[in-house]
Amino acid sequence: MHSERTRVSYTLYHGTVVHTPSLGQLLIQPKMLIGVTQEGKIDYFSHYGEQEHALHKTPQAFFQWLCDQRGYGPPQPTSDRNRWEHYIPGRGNGGNDRSRRYGYDYVDFSKHPSKFLVPGFFDTHIHASQFPNAGLGSELPLLDWLEKYTFSLENRFRAPDGEELPSARKRRLQMANTIYSRVINRTLAAGTTTASYFATIDTDTTNVLADLAVQHGQRALVGKVCMDCNPTYPEYVEPDAEALVRGTVEVLEHCAGLNVSVQSLGGPKMVQGIVTPRFAPLCLGELMKRLGALASKYNAPVQTHISENKDEIKLVADLFPECSDYTGVYDDHGLLGALTILAHAVHLTKHECKKILQKNCSILHCPSLNTFLTSGTAPVKRYLYEDKINVALGTDISGGCDYSILSAMKELIMVLHHLKMDKGKDKQQLVDTAPDNGLVTVADALYMATMGGAVACDMGSELGSFEVNKWFDAQLIDVMSPDLNIDVFDFQEPALDDTDMVDKVRQLVHRWIFCGDDRNCVKVWCNGRQVVDKEDRWVYLG
Ligand code: GUN
Ligand code: FE
Repeated sequence: MHSERTRVSYTLYHGTVVHTPSLGQLLIQPKMLIGVTQEGKIDYFSHYGEQEHALHKTPQAFFQWLCDQRGYGPPQPTSDRNRWEHYIPGRGNGGNDRSRRYGYDYVDFSKHPSKFLVPGFFDTHIHASQFPNAGLGSELPLLDWLEKYTFSLENRFRAPDGEELPSARKRRLQMANTIYSRVINRTLAAGTTTASYFATIDTDTTNVLADLAVQHGQRALVGKVCMDCNPTYPEYVEPDAEALVRGTVEVLEHCAGLNVSVQSLGGPKMVQGIVTPRFAPLCLGELMKRLGALASKYNAPVQTHISENKDEIKLVADLFPECSDYTGVYDDHGLLGALTILAHAVHLTKHECKKILQKNCSILHCPSLNTFLTSGTAPVKRYLYEDKINVALGTDISGGCDYSILSAMKELIMVLHHLKMDKGKDKQQLVDTAPDNGLVTVADALYMATMGGAVACDMGSELGSFEVNKWFDAQLIDVMSPDLNIDVFDFQEPALDDTDMVDKVRQLVHRWIFCGDDRNCVKVWCNGRQVVDKEDRWVYLG
């Protein structure tokens, strides 16, 4: 269960921090001290070395002095052994200097020039149930891919219409448990501290996904997939809109119940239900209206797909001729609001962008999917800077083939290079008016992976960057991790007091994004609690 095994009373982190508090702003801050309370809240965030007293003190002594001055902070030094009852030597926070005598854990990575702390990633769009299919289907476009690969897999999670034997039910729940545990562990180990999941049409196993996210310590939005017409694959549908609404309420309430138990520690929700109409082609108007009303009643977030593929857009125009466009379909059915997150949005018109901005929705960009299923190239730079829409990143497993948000950042940047190269071939001239000719920078990509995700999930004031009163969802990146997937030579290593330290770290950040992978993510914390530690060769499995 939600273990306290790795939670210590207070932790002081010391080292280089890399984050993007605002769009386009890549902040590289060496020698930062970050104080994190037992609840996981950042209550101190400052540079070590500027203050006059720092010059004569170790970071720990300096911090203790600061706490004494201010009369706040971690517990005073004491011989009270009870304070350490949850402390496991050799695990804990894995710091190389655990200053017990100061009464808090001290994690110092400042002397390792290849290590830096980054906010935890947000994967704002991922189908947990489709994880076994990752890498399958690149030969098909969206609608055929759904029919050939996706519905049959999701249908495995579903109870049969008639009576289900207890042994069959047990096997089904066990399968869900195995697949969902795997996807949570994989994504956590790749730095995803918050995920917005599509599960399946099945309520019980959707609740299993929520339980597992809490157990493993990953923040999650969990959606039961709602669809009440599916002419191409009639085995996988729930034609009764009432049953879909009831199941969605069950998931919202199940998640709310789980949250009560974990939320005693404070902080943003660890798990919450999200209203999930799959997409307009598979939802009748009445269902969408009811789900929109439900989201308003519960003040719940909403996730769905939009404008991913041109055949899909045409289908929606045929099915809803009375609506202005795809965005208009969702708007007319009460599904667009500040808590609505719209996956893909590859082929939006200007009119749709205006509506999405006006409704304060976010777009979830999934570059792996767009390439894998040949869906198209979204003009992300224009959405961000000209249309002023918040855009976050998603992996979209398994329409996307890669569960890593680090890879999504790389794919995003690379794909937009193609958009620039293809400029002129595309009648829409998508890049013409976008800044930098449509290219997305490393700073933009990291923003979308962290802060943009937090804003999309309505957690922008609590997560997404490092700041006092935000919560500590973080990953420690080591560009020279033990597996040595990136070659850093002596002259490239940043040294603490070099004048070009920040520039060298900047280069390491770029090399991490373009040459790295999840081996470089060596520790992960969610709500201050450590959930992954590869340096100790240990991953928390719940
Ligand atoms: N549109 C409707 N369902 C899906 C899905 O499962 N994956 C993707 N990529 N698009 C969808
Ligand atoms: Fe999707």
